[in-house]
Amino acid sequence: MENRRPLIAGNWKMFKTCPEAVETARQLAQLVNISTVDVMIAPQFTALVPVSDVIKRGCVSLGAQNLFWESEGAYTGEISPAMLVSAGCRYVIIGHSERRQYFGENDDSVNKKIKAAIRDNLIPILCVGESEKERESKETFNVLDRQITKGLEGFSSNELDTLVIAYEPVWAIGTGKTATKEQAQEVHRFLRSMVEKIFGNILAMSVRILYGGSVKPDNIKELMEMPDVDGALVGGASLDAETFSKIINF
Ligand code: 13P
Repeated sequence: MENRRPLIAGNWKMFKTCPEAVETARQLAQLVNISTVDVMIAPQFTALVPVSDVIKRGCVSLGAQNLFWESEGAYTGEISPAMLVSAGCRYVIIGHSERRQYFGENDDSVNKKIKAAIRDNLIPILCVGESEKERESKETFNVLDRQITKGLEGFSSNELDTLVIAYEPVWAIGTGKTATKEQAQEVHRFLRSMVEKIFGNILAMSVRILYGGSVKPDNIKELMEMPDVDGALVGGASLDAETFSKIINF
């Protein structure tokens, strides 16, 4: 895995009220004391500030699940990068397949969001992945090629030095179907080679590529043994502090 520091990230999606999120974060902060792995949790927006208060002295970082690319303005219902930073966020998840599927996000909006995140020093986690139909029709690499090329269009390699990519095959999200470690490795290697082709070897060697899709305590270890898997983006199994801490301590 070269010298890339693993990142285990929890995407809490639209689960947990504020008190529930604070309680889980408190439990997690007590369970997790690790200096060799970066850890992030992304609760829903209204829980960001109270969760930030609970985790700020520990080794768990805060992330958001989305942002809007403008700095401010008349954009009812949206949230800016600076607002996330002021709420305590270091990371932001961008282009999750659920946002692409239900909220009309596409490679163009993803590109703008990454730009906005970088402008305000948030670490972007760019999500890519193919659907079941696309995998079956052997479109996986074309889809990923497009998502990476368009999502990262117009950036210099310097600007992307904190970039994290998350490979989340849509067919493996919340389904209990994990990609095999070989399937994950094959795609991660492809993604790294794309980064190399577009941005050069230095960024390709340093960019962290996470796997997401039904990651659990009992499959994390074998995924992390793969040379191009640098961590995980965990949904369901991150909602319980004890379960998530087992993944973090893989
Ligand atoms: P699950 O771990 O629940 O499959 O979700 C994965 C995911 O979408 C993380 O962003």
